[in-house]
Amino acid sequence: MEDLRGWLKEVEGLGQLKRVKGAEANLEIGLMTEVNGQRRGAALLFDEIPGFHKGFRVLTGSMLNAKRLALTLGYRDIDSDQQLVSRLQGKMIGFEQAAPQYPIQERSTGAVLQNRQVGAEVDLLKFPAPKWHAHDGGNYLGTGCIVMTKDPDSGRINFGSYRLMVQDEKSITLHISSAHHGAINIRKYQDRGEPAPVAVSLGHHPLYLIVASMGIPYGISEFEYLGAIAGKSVPVVRGEMTGLPIPAASEFALEGFCSFDDFRDEGPFGEYTGYYASGRGKEPVINVRAVYHRDDPINLGAPPGRPPHDYSYVNALMKSISVKESLMKDGIPDVKGVWYHEAAGVNFFVVVSIRQRFPGHARQAGFMAAQCQAAANHLGRYVVVVDDDIDPTDLNEVIWAIGTRSNPEKDIDIMRNSYSSPLDPIYPDQGKIFFGSRAVIDACKPYDWIRDFPKVVQSSQEEKQQVIDKWPEIFK
Ligand SMILES: Cc1cc2nc3c(=O)[nH]c(=O)nc-3n(C[C@H](O)[C@H](O)[C@H](O)COP(=O)(O)O)c2cc1C
Repeated sequence: MEDLRGWLKEVEGLGQLKRVKGAEANLEIGLMTEVNGQRRGAALLFDEIPGFHKGFRVLTGSMLNAKRLALTLGYRDIDSDQQLVSRLQGKMIGFEQAAPQYPIQERSTGAVLQNRQVGAEVDLLKFPAPKWHAHDGGNYLGTGCIVMTKDPDSGRINFGSYRLMVQDEKSITLHISSAHHGAINIRKYQDRGEPAPVAVSLGHHPLYLIVASMGIPYGISEFEYLGAIAGKSVPVVRGEMTGLPIPAASEFALEGFCSFDDFRDEGPFGEYTGYYASGRGKEPVINVRAVYHRDDPINLGAPPGRPPHDYSYVNALMKSISVKESLMKDGIPDVKGVWYHEAAGVNFFVVVSIRQRFPGHARQAGFMAAQCQAAANHLGRYVVVVDDDIDPTDLNEVIWAIGTRSNPEKDIDIMRNSYSSPLDPIYPDQGKIFFGSRAVIDACKPYDWIRDFPKVVQSSQEEKQQVIDKWPEIFK
């Protein structure tokens, strides 16, 4: 695996990188990113951002199509979603199992240490932190970042992507949903009455972003999981202040402590649901003790918004594969496909297709898809289970199945008291503890009379081809 600069070179070689000079950090970078994301355009590298050093750059739109997502995962011969899904199928379980063979590789130095500011020298305001959307409550330095935390009991290191809003030269607020492993680690320090060490990499090879966004089981190190994908251990340097590992090739990193005596206003922030749902709230501050960066650092931006947005494609594809593998790992037979739909902000609408084998099979697949590790600790809403003649990626087919094969009085089950968070736009602000619900819609043919279920009115592909070939002037 190359570093971010190697990745950029390859993407430029594919003709899929555009350089933008002079766009403002205040809204213009965000607007261009939004327009470009909705067109699934090139990766955008912003430089000469007014008010900031030339060379202090921001990258967005890193993985808007199958080619760039596949390249990031190390597959250079893939051009379509279908190819990528079949290449990845079955691999996630292997990555999980192989992860312990790829412990982080500690280095005494790395490119990230080219420039270093500690203590009084720290000035976060020197780095371009876009205000991404018109109603954001501040400037977000961290969107496509990875945030390293430690479990104080086991010493295990976790990383995830969590938004970071700049407060002042030395303070930045961290917004983590309560079920995320990073939040669990930080709460453990809070319970002990100790400050929580936190390190952040703000620019890195986009493979980090893929891994950070995945619901990797608690206890498996994301660094090791990433090593398993890349086929080699991740080189890291230890943060001088916290001792936490930081990717040695990171563009730009910081470290410090959350001390829990300093909570500041954070948000609102335009989120992946398509709303500014969680409003403005108090979030813990990281007191930044050190900043490290390469010459001319690149911040990897990944701003969400109304879908499709900067990372909804990556999220939909990776989560679909992870949940399918999770169902297979749990031994649910004949799961043919799982697809999360970007149109619903990914998490809110998933379709599972199965070949029904026994009574209760469809409900089992639906309930498990709603609550398996890869899905449960994120927002969720609808799980639709369809037969294997329905393509779960095709919403027209899925809606036909819901409309014709589900009977509302008996085919919709509600799971209550499931995980939710303040990001869910359906709940008015109710304080800190959130429960949500899931609906499992069984849109499969009723299993008890499946053999007698009305036949589908549909000609075969061969029959259709016969008339197309016979009357080419009509069908050309
Ligand atoms: C670009 C991006 C931004 C994200 N922002 C946040 C965030 O602000 N807060 C949060 O809790 N999760 C956020 N997530 C989701 C988490 O990173 C993701 O759920 C991850 O699996 C959590 O990891 P953890 O359970 O190991 O903490 C974001 C994901 C991506 C890809």
